[in-house]
Amino acid sequence: MSVDLNTVKNALTWRYATKSFDPSRKIGPEAWAALEDSLVLAPSSYGLQPWQFLVVENTELRHKLKAVSWNQSQVTDASHFVVITTLRDMSADYIKAFIRQNMEVRNVPHEALAGYENMMIKNIVDGMEKNYIRTWNHRQAYIAMGFLLETAALLEIDTVAMEGLDPKAYDRFLGLEESPYETVSAVALGYRSAEDKYQFAQKVRFPKDQVIKVIR
Ligand SMILES: Cc1cc2nc3c(=O)[nH]c(=O)nc-3n(C[C@H](O)[C@H](O)[C@H](O)COP(=O)(O)O)c2cc1C
Repeated sequence: MSVDLNTVKNALTWRYATKSFDPSRKIGPEAWAALEDSLVLAPSSYGLQPWQFLVVENTELRHKLKAVSWNQSQVTDASHFVVITTLRDMSADYIKAFIRQNMEVRNVPHEALAGYENMMIKNIVDGMEKNYIRTWNHRQAYIAMGFLLETAALLEIDTVAMEGLDPKAYDRFLGLEESPYETVSAVALGYRSAEDKYQFAQKVRFPKDQVIKVIR
């Protein structure tokens, strides 16, 4: 497996936070499946995947969400709109379900994973403040979001990550208020409008030697 270095650099400079999508262009099913894979295969602490990704296809709902997202046009104009949600908490039951998934996939008995299971319950469920668990779950979501943005760029699909939204209003519209999951952020995906002037803007980044320090 090899990817040309130029492919990576080109994708990273080609991508930009798309402000204006071409509403007539849709992501095809094969590319969409690859984008879904980037979410499913994203790493998370202990591998717990404390997330759910809601792909909102309903037009009426997308209009409602736009109204609570600073009226940003990407919510309705992008081909696909994904709301990133994470668990509000972490329970022993959830960890046990994750362990069962491990047993099934890797074909190992419970005894082999009991230590791992107990360690996670002790460290997370018993060992972390409830508020910290929430923040910790949110952190995991940003890794998945990064994977999605990068994969899309490699496939020449435009994206914008969105925090400019009211998470509580999203929870209301998406029926999450009584659910274990809550809205963290969103990603709109599709194809840039030819008129979006931001695609021509220079990237504003601090110099590499200011951001990356080598400790010898
Ligand atoms: C977590 C996160 C939230 C963001 N929220 C928004 C948003 O709500 N609306 C928007 O237009 N851009 C949003 N952006 C885009 C950033 O402003 C943009 O990535 C940054 O200015 C760098 O520009 P570039 O992505 O074009 O290189 C967000 C980016 C990130 C990573």
